[in-house]
This record gives sequence, structure tokens and C-alpha cells, in this order.
Amino acid sequence: MTPQEDPAAASPPTLATAGVLDTAHVVGGVLTPIVAEGVLARRKTMVRLGGRLDTHGKAARILNGLKDRYDADALRLRFPRKMVVALRPPAVQAILHGTPDPFIPASREKVSTLSRFQPTGVLVSDLRHRPARRELNEFALQTSAPVHTLYERCAVIVREEVGELLAECHDGRLTWDVAAIAHWRMVRRLVFGDATRDQEDLTDMLTRLRHDANWAYAFPPRKDKSAGFRRRLDELVSTAPRDSLAGIVREAPVADRDTVDPTGQIPQWLFAFDAVAVAIHRALALLATDPNTLARAREDIRDLDAGRSPRLPILRATLLESVRLWPTTLAILWETVRDVPWSGGVIPAGTTTVILGEHFQRDDDAMDFAQRFAPDAWLDGRAQAWPVSCRSPTVRANVRGATS
Ligand code: HEM
Repeated sequence: MTPQEDPAAASPPTLATAGVLDTAHVVGGVLTPIVAEGVLARRKTMVRLGGRLDTHGKAARILNGLKDRYDADALRLRFPRKMVVALRPPAVQAILHGTPDPFIPASREKVSTLSRFQPTGVLVSDLRHRPARRELNEFALQTSAPVHTLYERCAVIVREEVGELLAECHDGRLTWDVAAIAHWRMVRRLVFGDATRDQEDLTDMLTRLRHDANWAYAFPPRKDKSAGFRRRLDELVSTAPRDSLAGIVREAPVADRDTVDPTGQIPQWLFAFDAVAVAIHRALALLATDPNTLARAREDIRDLDAGRSPRLPILRATLLESVRLWPTTLAILWETVRDVPWSGGVIPAGTTTVILGEHFQRDDDAMDFAQRFAPDAWLDGRAQAWPVSCRSPTVRANVRGATS
């Protein structure tokens, strides 16, 4: 990337060091509630408690207060270890544009947690292994295509499972517990084929590993559980039908399968589909509150049924609003692989950079629709024009992944 293409290279973001009290506020009022909610698997009680105590609102007030006090794009914390928190869009852009070198997604926090169930996953891969694994992920998930080639198969699965789900909603209410069961049936069918529809123990295995991983350093990894999960994946990949994601992985043209470990990428996808369930549930709740957008969303479906574009613009925009308003990844933690000179100081190698999505995606200073459901912002370009637009390859791929 040339300096012309990368604004951070021409004029690096500004960096300041937080005072001791401010560091304590960020650690206690912003980072601790996130860890308490569960980074890899949400703890329902803590999420509810967080809602009651308004931890997200308090975190927003802390970060806005810091923005008022520090005229800098990012703040270096004084403890618990080398950390830099993005305060303003230039810092976010520089980090997202600067991946994987100098900002690699495989931060030590992620490696110590995610490695328990995806030791060779792209997200925890170092600079040597990352490119080939990323390439495999892009190949299988078709991140550069507007719509995945399995979309028709996906539509069949969704139609069948949603038909059954609706028959179970006798009182017309769709609860999370019922929706989640149907969701995982769809995911298993799409990832491994129809035969795995009812293999709930498979996804339960992953959920248990994720709950263990929430404890990071405090809880020793259970190697037998991880090995059992991996054996199961290997079996399923070997028998998966061609029109499944596991089938695509099995047949992907990969030069060095031992290093890339195509099967080892699948746990991240299963993990990520949890975010999809949450995002969809919230998107449906948004539609339920907005009859006008609901009617337009129904038009999307009529267009699809009539054989017109499968792009579903209103539903797509609604889903993007769901993740904008309530990001499923509360904090994006990446790490510097070398010293990074910013204006006002150097970020040393081995520093964790923290981007709190909610802080930017609901930024009243940057958009006039920050706190409300505004699907049209994605259709008329206002959302894409906001200062932290999804232009990094990783985030762009995720936006597509979330909507295709
Ligand atoms: C609502 C849906 C989703 C959201 C909001 C979402 C969000 C994210 C975010 C924020 C990251 C970066 C994490 C970090 O660096 O700490 C990420 C990474 C990733 N996601 Fe998703 N994701 C979603 C769905 C999916 C799905 C369905 C898949 C696959 C089937 C997927 C595959 C991946 C992969 C492979 C990465 C790692 C990319 C890399 O490191 O190069 N995501 N996702």
C-alpha cells in the first residue's frame, strides 16, 4: 500500500499516554465488563447483569470523557500490560489498514483462548502461516463474491428449517431458545451436510470448549476434549457432501495441507455462526419495531421468490444495522508485530491494540443516526461514508460473510 492509498502512512495517528486514574477507569469500566460478559461464549447472567447496571452506557461515557480530555487518536494504557485503546477513527483506520503487519489479529489474548479449539485457525496464526490460511478461508467462504455459490442450497435449508420452526411457535412468539436450536440445525447442514442436522452434541462440544476458553490463562486447556472435537471434525469433513462448506474445504486446491490445515479453519466458522444467530435475532427484533422497513423487507423476499436478485438489500441493511448497533465482537484485540511509530510516541512490538466497536459504530459525533435503527444509511451510502468505513480486507470480508 502506498502512502497515497494509506492515510496512516502519510500522517500517522496521534498517541497519548493515559494517566493512572484514566487507565484504571478504562480497565475497570470498559475492559472488565467485556471480559465478565464472556469474550468467547456469552455468560447469560453477566449479560443480563450488564444490562441492568448499564455497563455499555458507562463504558461509552468513560471513552467519551477520554476523548474530551485527550486530544489524541489513541491512548496508551499504563497497566495491566502494553495496551493501546483506539479513541478516534484515524487510529481505527490505521490499525485495520495495517493488518497483518504491523497489526496482527493473533494477539496473545486470542492465541491463549482460541487456540483451545482452533490452534491452526487463521485468527491465531502468525505472519508465516497466516497468508495461506487466509487464502483458504477466502476461497471457501468466497469473500470476494457478492453471493456465495452455495446460496441456493442455503436457501433450501433455511426454508425447510424455518418452516419447521414457525410450526413450533404456537403463540406467535419467537424465543431465543427455540430459534437457536433451529439455527444450529441450519449451520450443521450448511457446514457438514444434512446427515449432521440433529448432531447437537457436535456443536455442544464446541460450546463447552468456548466456555472453558472464556477463562483464558486461569483454566488449563482440556486436551482430551479438544482432541475429541478435532477427530469428529476430521470424520465429518471426509464424508461431507460436495455442496457443503466442509466439502469445499476437502476439495480446495491447497499445496501444503499439513501447514494450512484446511479442516482446522472450520471451528472459527462454527464459532462465528453464533454471531450470525445473535445478529439475526436482533435484526428480527428491529423489524418487529418498524412496520415500514418490515414491509420493504417482505418485498425483498417477494423479489427473491420471483427469481429476481438474491441480494436482499433491505434485509442486508437491517442485518448490518443489527451488528452496528450491537456489535457481536465487543472488542477487536490485535497486536503489533514490531515497533510502530505514531505521532507522539512509538507503539512497542507486542502491544495489544483495542478497538471497541460500539464506541465508533454509535458515535454521535460521526453520524446523525448513531443511536437509532437506520437501514437506509446502508442504502444511500451514509454508513459507508462514516469515518471508520469497513475497508480493511478482514472487516470487509466479515461484512460480506455476515450478509451472504
Ligand atoms: C454476524 C456475523 C459476523 C460478524 C459480526 C463477524 C465479525 C468478525 C470480526 C469482528 C472478526 C475479526 C475478529 C478479530 O480480529 O478479533 C472476524 C473474523 C473472522 N470471521 Fe467473522 N463475523 C461474522 C460471521 C462470520 C461467519 C459466518 C464466518 C464463516 C463462516 C466468519 C469467518 C471469519 C473468519 C475466518 C475470521 C478471521 C479472519 C482473519 O483473521 O483473517 N465470520 N469476524
